[in-house]
Amino acid sequence: MAIVFDPAHKTYTLHTEQTSYQLQADRFGRLLHLYYGQRSEGCLDYLLTYADRGFSGNPNEAGDERRYSMDALPQEFPVQGTGDYRSPLLSVRDETGTFGCDLKLQGHTIRAGKYALEGLPAVYADTEADGAETLELRLYNERLGLYVTLLYGVLPKLDIITRAAVLENAGSGTLRVEKLQSACLDFVSGDFDLICFQGRHAMERTPDRRPLHHGSTVIGSRRGYSSHQYNPFVILADRTATETAGRCWAMQFVYSGGFQAEAELDQYGQTRLQMGLAEDTFSYPLRPGEKLTAPEVILTYSAAGLERLSHNLHRCIRRHICRGRYRDAVRPLLLNSWEAAYFNINADTLIALGREAKALGLDLLVMDDGWFGERWNDRAGLGDWTTNEKKLGCSLGELIGQVKALGLRFGIWMEPEMVNEDSALYRAHPDWALTIPGEGPVRARCQLVLDLSRREVCDYLFQSLCAVLDQGDISYLKWDANRSIAEVYSRTADDQGRVLYDYMLGLYDILERLTARYPDLLIEGCSGGGGRFDAGMLYYCPQIWCSDNTDAVDRLTIQYGTSFGYPASTVGAHVSACPNHQTGRVTPLATRAAVAMAGTFGYELDPKTLSEEEKEEIRRQVAAFREDAPLVLDGLYYRLSDPTRELCAAWAFVSESGERCLLSAVLQNCHGNMTPVYVKLRGLTPGALYRVRESGAVYPADALMDMGLPFPLPAAEYDSRVWHFERV
Ligand code: GLA
Repeated sequence: MAIVFDPAHKTYTLHTEQTSYQLQADRFGRLLHLYYGQRSEGCLDYLLTYADRGFSGNPNEAGDERRYSMDALPQEFPVQGTGDYRSPLLSVRDETGTFGCDLKLQGHTIRAGKYALEGLPAVYADTEADGAETLELRLYNERLGLYVTLLYGVLPKLDIITRAAVLENAGSGTLRVEKLQSACLDFVSGDFDLICFQGRHAMERTPDRRPLHHGSTVIGSRRGYSSHQYNPFVILADRTATETAGRCWAMQFVYSGGFQAEAELDQYGQTRLQMGLAEDTFSYPLRPGEKLTAPEVILTYSAAGLERLSHNLHRCIRRHICRGRYRDAVRPLLLNSWEAAYFNINADTLIALGREAKALGLDLLVMDDGWFGERWNDRAGLGDWTTNEKKLGCSLGELIGQVKALGLRFGIWMEPEMVNEDSALYRAHPDWALTIPGEGPVRARCQLVLDLSRREVCDYLFQSLCAVLDQGDISYLKWDANRSIAEVYSRTADDQGRVLYDYMLGLYDILERLTARYPDLLIEGCSGGGGRFDAGMLYYCPQIWCSDNTDAVDRLTIQYGTSFGYPASTVGAHVSACPNHQTGRVTPLATRAAVAMAGTFGYELDPKTLSEEEKEEIRRQVAAFREDAPLVLDGLYYRLSDPTRELCAAWAFVSESGERCLLSAVLQNCHGNMTPVYVKLRGLTPGALYRVRESGAVYPADALMDMGLPFPLPAAEYDSRVWHFERV
């Protein structure tokens, strides 16, 4: 049993193989959080301390028991207005505007299998094979008639716990939900760092680690989407925690809209970490009879540093978030037309690219932006998902036929959520865009966002997508979204505070219908690169274009940061031309390939510009990747250095069995008379010997992990090496 209820102590314990999570219903029916850490048995309420603390009030039932305060005790689902003055998970007003909602436990259910959430992505698991279980705790506030069901999912073998909450208004008045977070972790002690992943367009997810000070550290996105600026994934770590040592906890949001994560160090040295919906852009009217779900948060704990934390999350995302036929499959190796030709595409250029792609040994040609409506540039056409035959020179069906005749599969780019004012769609339905009458509009890349909180807009988009996808054998769809939402106003919503939340439900609904209707279609998510790189999107698209920045050196940092929360199988990565279009940097072709091979791998350049030697090198890269792809898809990923601080960026994929290892290293900088650089491996089988395929040399695993392997000198800036190790 993963979930144990102890009626004597009223504790609920969620056990995984290596961790335990425990909460307790106190004598008044409120939920106290006791523990999340190394697997432990028994009742852990000895961890709580009680003292008469000034200005920390006492709940009514506690009478004059002045040592009992919600302000000082660790909470499981803290609510505004109960005497806990820390940042709450839920803030709800009644019709008079009054806050205050003391939730009491009414009952619980423990059942086999992992819960699902209606209309929202969530971790899924097999009852038998994964031993997944669900705990449901029903909380109630009588004055408001508000039920809150806390949902906990346990995946014991993965050391994963999930949380979500469902609100239901069983009262007679409308309740205004002003803040809704999905989960918190309260710590009674600890000296912590918060690690978040910050960035910007074309430079996403750089780790940002800072010690907590008194007060709150809040990160998040008010952009309607999860954003380039902060990823909906945070880690709380012991200040001394490293890759391989120390305690750390992760929270990962299974949601693609605005979010917020907060770490608060309180007056008593206690810490609360929480995650949920963005507060500033949310104010939800919960009418009598209605329900509202706080999206899922994935939690994991490691007592052995950040590496194990990442491994837990990678296993979870690969097999319990990603779905569909491509979940476990090596993805088609593709050539994308964007950096090869930008908007200058037509059937001739595409077929020429296709011929080259075929000759290089690739599987699929992606026709990126520029094929539809009046899409001669980025000022027009979005919304009009009909082929611009004048520009293309033929119909979409004919083009697909010609690409297939080359022996390639065909992929297409769309940006369904957006509209240009210069489009037939906007002219017909200006009210379908999210704009505020009398204001703006705020344009970004000359485009507006469609109102996906409206059913008819979603239906129209679904039909438009089907109309495109039914024109031929399309194997791949790149789903883009190239701006943030600014104006939150829906012409049909009865209350604007719910629009962004409803937008996400609309988006997920389209994606769910699409994946059901086209089970063989590979969807790659994208939002100006990695502006919506989150576990929510990964439920529908097993890979996401990681960044519009294809520079191999910048990608070292971007992919390093991404790896903390997401497996390489989800990371869209391509080899592009030099000088790089984003940075102007020149890097060796071999290095560009080594870096892109830590992802889904593909090319995004015009092969016509390459020499015969370069083409030959690419043919070898393609063949090499085919061999390594299963290891990249399924192996354990090791961050062997920190490219934001170290000269040499190094990482490895090691098979779960420890038999095979693919090690890659890139020198980010070079100096005269270079001092040697050693790359220390991890994850090899202690005591075993490993043969390096490239040289035939045999090394002991322990020496490779203790002293490392020297990067061969002499070397030049941006040189890279790839080594294949096989256990002998
Ligand atoms: C976004 C994507 C790019 C490309 C362009 C097309 O920026 O991230 O890869 O598809 O849009 O306009």
